[in-house]
Amino acid sequence: MPIRRPLLLLVQAALLCCAVLLLAVDVPVLAQRTGESYRPVDTIAAHARSMVNEGRQTFRYETFGDQAFWTGTLQIHKALATVSPRTALAVGLKVDSDALPQDVLHAIRRGRVNLDDPAVTAALLKLNAVVGVQGTFAPDGRLTTAAISCALCHSTVDNSVAPGIGKRLDGWANRDLDVGTIINLAPDLSAVASLLGVDEPTVRTVLKSWGPGRFDAELFLDGKAFRPDGKAAAVLIPPAFGLAGVNLHTYTGWGSVTYWNAFVANLEMHGQGNFHDARLNDPAKFPVAARAGFADVKNDVDLITPKLAALEFYQLAMPAPPPPTGSFNAAAAQRGKLVFSSAGCANCHVPPLYTEPGHNLHTPDEIGIDGFQAERSPEGGYRTTPLKGLWSHAKGGFYHDGRFATLDDVVNHYDGTFSLHLSASEKADLVQYLKSL
Ligand code: HEC
Ligand code: HEC
Repeated sequence: MPIRRPLLLLVQAALLCCAVLLLAVDVPVLAQRTGESYRPVDTIAAHARSMVNEGRQTFRYETFGDQAFWTGTLQIHKALATVSPRTALAVGLKVDSDALPQDVLHAIRRGRVNLDDPAVTAALLKLNAVVGVQGTFAPDGRLTTAAISCALCHSTVDNSVAPGIGKRLDGWANRDLDVGTIINLAPDLSAVASLLGVDEPTVRTVLKSWGPGRFDAELFLDGKAFRPDGKAAAVLIPPAFGLAGVNLHTYTGWGSVTYWNAFVANLEMHGQGNFHDARLNDPAKFPVAARAGFADVKNDVDLITPKLAALEFYQLAMPAPPPPTGSFNAAAAQRGKLVFSSAGCANCHVPPLYTEPGHNLHTPDEIGIDGFQAERSPEGGYRTTPLKGLWSHAKGGFYHDGRFATLDDVVNHYDGTFSLHLSASEKADLVQYLKSL
């Protein structure tokens, strides 16, 4: 039957056409019904939004189970229960005004809150208002656990209610925070002492040496507490904003954002997770880490790894804050931009990232400083610091250890190291440019 087959094909084709037509008709009808033009759901943008929301929660509030260390081992909750809000603010802890009810805000504004009463600190913790410190409470109101999140060091507030009290500024370096003094409040530091292989008074002396805005992540790997010149080995807390597009992170280029997040959550905050870095299995360079088995951390319950993707996403989404109007001289900054190029600054601090697209590490000699901190990292170099938002972390100084108190000092250092012979006005313009980033 030679005719049948083409006929069947024809019928099939006709049916297909109808189906396509039906679909085509159906779409505008649907769109009309909902009153919107038809657009496929943008799954990527929706995903980005949910990652940012999840990452923000993690960055602000997640402790990764680190209360086991901060409460179980160090018993920091016992110390916090005796700390007045005045002391808490003095050691640089910040209060998130969005977490406070209106009547409490009014009372604070009118000076009617007793800042010398530790019960007020407990009330703030209960409201989840102390940035980066998470507490849990017994039914009788006692603080039973305390733990920390990333926001402790990498957030501050805008002081809109009172000094230290205001809206959160995620990603900003908290250069007021005296981490050493806070850890020193803990009644039991024997675990830290035995990790480092020293006695407890030594640990307390080291913590006291840090000062505001500083922390020493490498201490718990190499046990080096002081630089050869006798000063504390701690480095300045950097911002966690403006990191998208930057290859290596930390002052000494340990790895990517997500590498360092896993490192910090496991090894510094003492959360419960998994971590792997064979570079730490080096008893000569990292005696503490090698002894403690930090190269390969395994926990049956992993509270960290599932959080890493969104946490990184959130950090990459945080823009560097623009400088406040009037905080720099615009005409001078415009001239300074040319100096930034002609003096060779832009060779390493390549705009608009202000670090090298590519492998952004340098030897200590290249930037004219000693190699102490560089040699404490696996890579042995210094990472070109991305400069956007520089104005927001001037407190504590510049370079990893704050060795240059002002931007003028930084510029004078480069002028000498690179034999630039900049004139006084070129230097001043360059400083204004740095302030404008
Ligand atoms: C106790 C304070 C403290 C806490 C808590 C902390 N950090 Fe940091 N963070 C630092 C310091 C100090 C450095 C600089 C380390 C270095 O270079 O040696 C740093 C470096 C970084 C960097 C590199 C920034 C850059 O410019 O490359 C990122 C990213 C970062 N931290 C993210 C986090 C995240 C995410 C968390 C939570 C999982 C966290 N940090 C918890 C103090 C802290
Ligand atoms: C060879 C590459 C290189 C060149 C050229 C260079 N820098 Fe840097 N810059 C670095 C590195 C690496 C660091 C980090 C140093 C540290 O933290 O110890 C840095 C740090 C800085 C900082 C401190 C940032 C902070 O947050 O503390 C400033 C400011 C700065 N550079 C400005 C300049 C200016 C201005 C010039 C030109 C006169 C310049 N740089 C030239 C590599 C370079």
